[in-house]
Amino acid sequence: MSAARAGDELRVGVIGLGWAGQQHIAAYDALAGARVVAIAGLEEPVRDQLATRYGIDEQVARWEDLLELDGLDAVSVAVPTFLHAPIAIAALERGMHVLCEKPIALNGAQAEAMVQAARTAGLVLEVAFNHRQRGDIQELKAVVDAGRLGHPYYAKAWWLRRTGIPTVGSWFTRAELAGGGPLVDIGVHVLDYSLFLLGNPDVVAVSASTYDLLATAGFGASPGFTKTGATDDRTFDVEDLASVFMRLADGGTLLVEASWAAHRRDGDEFGITLYGTDGGAELIVDDYAPKGALRVFTDDDGAAVATTVPVKTGRGHRAVIEQFAQTIRSGDWRGHDGSGAAALARIVDACYRSAAEQREVRLDS
Ligand SMILES: NC(=O)c1ccc[n+]([C@@H]2O[C@H](COP(=O)([O-])OP(=O)(O)OC[C@H]3O[C@@H](n4cnc5c(N)ncnc54)[C@H](O)[C@@H]3O)[C@@H](O)[C@H]2O)c1
Repeated sequence: MSAARAGDELRVGVIGLGWAGQQHIAAYDALAGARVVAIAGLEEPVRDQLATRYGIDEQVARWEDLLELDGLDAVSVAVPTFLHAPIAIAALERGMHVLCEKPIALNGAQAEAMVQAARTAGLVLEVAFNHRQRGDIQELKAVVDAGRLGHPYYAKAWWLRRTGIPTVGSWFTRAELAGGGPLVDIGVHVLDYSLFLLGNPDVVAVSASTYDLLATAGFGASPGFTKTGATDDRTFDVEDLASVFMRLADGGTLLVEASWAAHRRDGDEFGITLYGTDGGAELIVDDYAPKGALRVFTDDDGAAVATTVPVKTGRGHRAVIEQFAQTIRSGDWRGHDGSGAAALARIVDACYRSAAEQREVRLDS
């Protein structure tokens, strides 16, 4: 197995063919200089359909068989979270670069093992945080970087669903397979884009609460989700709502909320409010709209001004996969070892510990 060099076609395998894996396949297909040559997934009809649609030569059911194929430069890992670490580590040990879906792994310890495997192999390990690639988040980042808010010292960010539990009884609702509920599933996107917007300050302490009151009472299943591997219609041992107060190293505060089930208005909403010394900003995205509503609030010589900022549609997974391919081609792989995503995993671990022990947990000691 050889790592691709500039000018070579990048030969990729995609493991996992649910919504996420299909985003990866479509994005590689749209990218000049990259080709999906093999796919792995347990559903034969889905494999057949994707192989035909994208002209993919090899298809196998199990990930182990995909890693045995010759000539792969890189793999995308888009399987249930408990499989991320074993697959990523095995692929890195066989000389392949890895793009892994979020969350990086079940917990910080697994994430650290993945980072070590990438460093030992001297190969790229990236994690797909497509939300920070949205056009509205990128525009808000430009607003922050241009100094329009001054120093942003307080942020509240959320991803909330009224009835959005991904299939009850599937891997998503089982702690040993998913690592947790909405906090590690959608909350990790919120954490990623929030810290990105705030300039990546270290999180020094967290205080979290988690609840499972609605899901365990039978409320909140989403009719829209069909996840693989459902074993029964009852197993639910993760939270359905999480709320976290985070102290940042620069003195700032970040609040994060994530729910799969809550008595609130219908739909699926994520966003962020930022308060800075010179201005504030608010981004709200309803039901996965390609463009959210972004407003900036400033004080112009004593007058309170609210400006609606136009945003572009972002490129999500396409941008993630372009950057992954570009990094591989650049030959400069230092720092592309998954350590940023591993830091998020340690923060999520601390949140679950805080909720379980009902106290603030520090990350800086
Ligand atoms: N970035 C995003 O916005 C985003 C969105 C959805 C899901 N995800 C992430 O992507 C991953 C997959 O989520 P999903 O919603 O697509 O899940 P899914 O359950 O719909 O699909 C999982 C896929 O993995 C395959 N799989 C399971 N065990 C396998 C094995 N032993 N060998 C080969 N393939 C196997 C299944 O056959 C299926 O094709 C998760 O980590 C999830 O957190 C990310």
